[in-house]
Amino acid sequence: MKISVAPGDISRSEGPAIIVNLFEGVTSPGGAAGAVDRALDGAISRLIEQGEIRGKRGENTVIHTLGRLPAERVVVAGLGKPSKFDPDAVRVVSAEVCRHLRSIGVRSASTIVHGAGIGGLAPRAAASAMAEGAVMGLYRFDKYKSDDENGDRRDMEEITVIDIDRSRVTDVEEGVREGVTLAEAVNLCRDMANEPANVMTPTRMAEVALEAAVGSGLRIEVLERSHMEALGMGALLGVAQGSSEPPKLIVLAYDGDPDDPSNRLGLIGKGITFDSGGLDIKSAAGMLTMKGDMAGGGAVIAAMKAVAGLRIGANVTGVVAATENMPGGRAQRPGDVVTTMSGKTVEIGNTDAEGRLVLADAVTYARSLGIERIVDVATLTGAIITALGKHYTGVFGSDQKLVDSVIAAGAESGERMWQLPLPEDYRQNYRSDVADIKNTGSGAAGSIAGAQFIGEFADGAAWTHLDIAGTARADSTRGYNPKGATGAPVRTLAALARRLSSGSKG
Ligand code: BES
Ligand code: MN
Ligand code: ZN
Repeated sequence: MKISVAPGDISRSEGPAIIVNLFEGVTSPGGAAGAVDRALDGAISRLIEQGEIRGKRGENTVIHTLGRLPAERVVVAGLGKPSKFDPDAVRVVSAEVCRHLRSIGVRSASTIVHGAGIGGLAPRAAASAMAEGAVMGLYRFDKYKSDDENGDRRDMEEITVIDIDRSRVTDVEEGVREGVTLAEAVNLCRDMANEPANVMTPTRMAEVALEAAVGSGLRIEVLERSHMEALGMGALLGVAQGSSEPPKLIVLAYDGDPDDPSNRLGLIGKGITFDSGGLDIKSAAGMLTMKGDMAGGGAVIAAMKAVAGLRIGANVTGVVAATENMPGGRAQRPGDVVTTMSGKTVEIGNTDAEGRLVLADAVTYARSLGIERIVDVATLTGAIITALGKHYTGVFGSDQKLVDSVIAAGAESGERMWQLPLPEDYRQNYRSDVADIKNTGSGAAGSIAGAQFIGEFADGAAWTHLDIAGTARADSTRGYNPKGATGAPVRTLAALARRLSSGSKG
């Protein structure tokens, strides 16, 4: 789909549809909606009066113009209550209206920038949110569906963003470009996490990372098993040993602030392309969605692509530990002891607590590159869903400044985050009788134990852990997240990199 920008009066736009908007509680529409209302002899006002149009967020009312306007249809998109209006409302509205148009067979439309006028948002931010919402909301994963006889799966082809204020067009153009870059990165992460595990193997993940790197200014290196052996990555290799798929450690690097090499952010992703649980095998229901256990790694690869695409002024390194977790004759056993790259030994309390094992070595690898600021992203624990549900990412960290930056980047991106504690005295929960530590806790506060285990390998760096087990996958379509992989927290990671870029420190 193409999104273009042009100055002009939307009521004069031709084509299958024009999109205007309305806040909840407004009885006489103003701005573009007002102009369109007048051209339609008060049709919008009448529908408001009759209660058919209420302006609720996500409400879409289609009015056929029957020749009274150059466009065939007017869509009135509800913005919701003005008091609850923000960029995320724009994303939701944009997603809902685009999906509605697609569902009625409309392939192109012109729209005003929701929120840039009466909504009081900066034109660039509003335009970015619109583009994000449209591109994320129209996403679907249908590559394995056979030919589409009724044309039901035809995509939207073009959206034209029309702004009456010529002086804002450059800002709107920049916002659209930014929003498309972010949303396409989100969709790349979704594609990876929705892809079945027989296709999205560690090898395929490395190929996708290579495709993302080519021509984008990203450097890439993929470490093979032999290299991991030489580095002593016993924890990552222990998880990988039960699988016939070779593990990959995918390293992407971007140098957006070459004058300040110390300004580097490390993004570390869990890339378990299938988590069967290993010998501590999962139930059928528990295993069903485990092709998505590489969502953290996918988010890191996608965020790296976005950071490069947006030419963000920070240095960022992505490290993705990609492997399967499988049972079998060569698989790791409960009770095994592995030696991590850091030298710390780990007793395997449960082979299904594999994420923290692969992350331990990935974090140590990042530290070995001299990276002092680390954010790891992982579908780490079922317990985080018990604690926070499916719409908050769990945040943990050793450095409150970094944690606050991550949470603020999340708020800006509409990705909800909630911090949980790392109590010093809870560390005894994963002490081992035979090794330095073990990979399971006491059974209580499982997300904290998982986070703390990873933190053991941060080795003094500023470190934040994001547990996305709940947020990485949506059970049903909601706003700009269609059912399936959500691509969380790709936009937050890109926003974080921007916050850490030279010039906008903090
Ligand atoms: N990948 C799972 C966590 C998960 C669960 C992600 C549900 C998405 C949805 C992780 O590897 C895992 O199995 N964690 C165990 C840890 C336990 C064995 C200490 C869990 O949460 O049960
Ligand atoms: Mn597991
Ligand atoms: Zn897992």
